[in-house]
Amino acid sequence: MKVHLNRLAPVAITVLALCLALAVVPAQTATSDQKGPETLVIDGGRKGNITLPHREHQQNLKDCKICHSIFPKKAGSINAMKDDGALKKKQVMNKLCLNCHRALKKAGRDAGPISCSGCHKK
Ligand code: HEC
Ligand code: HEC
Ligand code: HEC
Repeated sequence: MKVHLNRLAPVAITVLALCLALAVVPAQTATSDQKGPETLVIDGGRKGNITLPHREHQQNLKDCKICHSIFPKKAGSINAMKDDGALKKKQVMNKLCLNCHRALKKAGRDAGPISCSGCHKK
């Protein structure tokens, strides 16, 4: 029986593609530990702390880097970076949180709070 290589090639490619697809799966099914808490509290200084619905933002925004390219996936990292000058006070608030909420609101879409008391609670 003659087996043509070019007949096997598509099979080999399919198998390879399947292996690659399977190899990617574990990275997508992050445990809740890797995803961080469902909600978390950010230090808001004298205005009072902010409760961030973390999971809701992950689901809405899809891309972790929207926030975590600015500060790492670590509790307390914003404060640590403000302490050593890597972030200015209110930089995350203005450049990240409020920028997005304002842009969405302007576009007529569901947006997060823009008023101080919408985020800061005493
Ligand atoms: C809207 C902004 C935002 C997005 C988007 C976001 N995070 Fe976070 N994440 C935060 C903030 C804020 C903190 C806490 C930082 C601090 O305490 O200074 C945090 C903390 C974490 C922590 C550390 C929790 C702990 O207790 O140490 C992990 C893990 C994490 N995020 C994972 C993720 C993953 C994975 C994604 C994407 C699926 C994601 N985050 C998307 C804002 C975000
Ligand atoms: C969308 C949520 C949000 C809104 C709305 C908001 N803030 Fe903030 N604010 C934050 C976050 C997050 C931080 C902590 C990170 C930072 O300093 O950028 C913060 C920090 C602060 C701090 C502490 C800064 C420091 O390091 O001492 C003050 C003061 C403050 N906000 C005042 C205000 C005032 C005044 C308003 C209304 C005009 C307001 N915020 C509206 C999210 C918000
Ligand atoms: C890229 C866009 C984007 C960024 C960045 C972002 N948000 Fe939001 N935020 C949203 C959207 C979208 C909603 C949901 C609006 C809705 O569904 O009603 C929301 C909702 C919220 C709510 C209200 C949740 C509720 O259930 O009432 C809070 C509080 C909030 N965001 C705080 C923050 C803080 C604090 C930061 C910065 C650390 C931040 N957001 C960064 C888009 C963003």
